[in-house]
Amino acid sequence: MTESTPSLTTAPAGTAAPVVVAIDGPAGSGKSSVSKAAAGRLGYGFLDTGAAYRALAWHALEHGADTSDATAVLEVFGDFDYAISLDPADRWVRVGGVDVTAEIREPRVTDAVSGVARVGAVRHAVNELFRRLVASASLTGVVVEGRDITTVVFPDAPVRILLTAAPEVRAARRSAELTDQDAAKVAAALHKRDAADSTVVDFLTAAEGVEVVDSTHLDFEQTVDAVLSVVDSTMGARDGR
Ligand code: DC
Repeated sequence: MTESTPSLTTAPAGTAAPVVVAIDGPAGSGKSSVSKAAAGRLGYGFLDTGAAYRALAWHALEHGADTSDATAVLEVFGDFDYAISLDPADRWVRVGGVDVTAEIREPRVTDAVSGVARVGAVRHAVNELFRRLVASASLTGVVVEGRDITTVVFPDAPVRILLTAAPEVRAARRSAELTDQDAAKVAAALHKRDAADSTVVDFLTAAEGVEVVDSTHLDFEQTVDAVLSVVDSTMGARDGR
C-alpha cells in the first residue's frame, strides 16, 4: 500500500495531536452522516474509515481480483494508493489519483467490501494509516467513524461512542437512502453484511468506557445533539469543567 497526502495540511512539529472522537456502530445506525455533521459543528475533521475499505474493494474489482480470496486481496493491496479528504464539507476519496468518491457507493462495491475488510493483514495496515492520517493533520480534532474504531484503532481516544439503532430501524433508513432499490432486498443485504462483518469485529456491544447512543427513537438532528452532548460532557470531565 502507498498513501497520498490527505487534503488537509500536515501538522508542524510541536503541534498537539488532534483530539479524537471515535464513533463505532453497525450499518444504518446513521454513523456516517451523524459523524460528519458532528465534525462540522465541532469544527473538527472527519475520517470515514469505511471509505478506505470501499476504495480497496473498488481497486480489487478494477483488477478483476476475487474479493472473497484473501491472497488475491493482499496481492492488489500492494499497489493500493489511497488518499482521502478529512474536510467534512469537501469529501473525496482517490485511488491512484482517480476520484472514486461516487463509485465506492455502488452496490457492486458494497457487495465486495466485507471480503476485503475481513483480511487481517489489510486491517492492520489500514488501521496504521488511519492513526498516521489523524496524527499528522493540523486540526483541533477529528471525528473518526467506523467499525472497531473505539476498540482497536483508537482505544485511548478521549471520546468513544457506539451509535446503535434497532435492526428494523436501520434497514428502513438504509432503504430510504437507496430509493432506487427494493426495500426487502436492502434489508436482506444489510442483515447479510451485519452477519459477515460481525464475524470480524463485534460492533454491537460497547466496550468498557464506550458511551452508547441509541438512535432508534431519535431523528437525525436529535442524534447529532446526543453525540455532541457526549463529546461535551466527556471533554468537560476531562478538562475539569
Ligand atoms: O461504513 P461503510 O458501510 O462504508 O463500511 C464499509 C465496509 O467496511 C463494511 O463492510 C464495514 C467495513 N469496515 C470495517 O470493517 N472497519 C472499519 N473501520 C470501517 C468499515
